[in-house]
Amino acid sequence: METDVITIDGPTSSGKNSVGFLLAQKLGYQYIDSGSIYRAGCIFVLRNNIDPYETQKVVEIFKNLKIDIKNDNGSFKVIANNEDVTDILHSSDVTKIVPVVAAIKEVREAAKPIKWDLSKIKNTVMTGRDIGSEIFPDAKHKFYLTADVNIRAKRRFEQLFKKDPSIKYEQVLKDMEDRDKKDTEREVSPLRIPDGAAVIDNSHLTVEQTVEEMLKHIKGNVIASD
Ligand code: DC
Repeated sequence: METDVITIDGPTSSGKNSVGFLLAQKLGYQYIDSGSIYRAGCIFVLRNNIDPYETQKVVEIFKNLKIDIKNDNGSFKVIANNEDVTDILHSSDVTKIVPVVAAIKEVREAAKPIKWDLSKIKNTVMTGRDIGSEIFPDAKHKFYLTADVNIRAKRRFEQLFKKDPSIKYEQVLKDMEDRDKKDTEREVSPLRIPDGAAVIDNSHLTVEQTVEEMLKHIKGNVIASD
């Protein structure tokens, strides 16, 4: 059976993951955050004491990377090389090296079949930076989610502040502007609005309202899930 894929791309802290997760739940689709594939590979890069700039060694890790995603009982779990790595995907060490690793052309090539194979298991909502543009350019429903950089920085600040009250908003904003620049200006697969994508600015929308907006676009065109 051919599976349906709904793509959601957008910059960091645009709410892609919360929105993608809820949209998938409402439709009975599986949810896949493609950023977690790069993050999972980085865990093995770090464990093997590989410098992220040692491109060939990093590429080898990704060529041998096996990823399973589990969406049981409303959770999102990432199993990498048979190990549940969900809880360490967002560690600061991984977050530090992942933009370098995700910008390596051969790493992106190795990640492509992982994304395609995962989507064949079930109807899928997949979030990322290149999903509607390069991975599933023919998807029927593509979204580009964005929000004002100050609002995205505020969201990130609130998340980080819970863990580290000494964090400064100005620094979070600056980091976010740097990340946006890296994502949009990188040579390989830069972040862009995919052809045919519906652009949703959720600066002033909740996760629920954003999903409602998306469902208006999708309504009537959703393939029944198994
Ligand atoms: O969304 P995130 O922060 O978990 O993404 C982690 C990194 O992976 C980030 O540097 C962007 C990159 N990424 C990418 O290049 N392409 C994707 N499809 C998903 C994420």
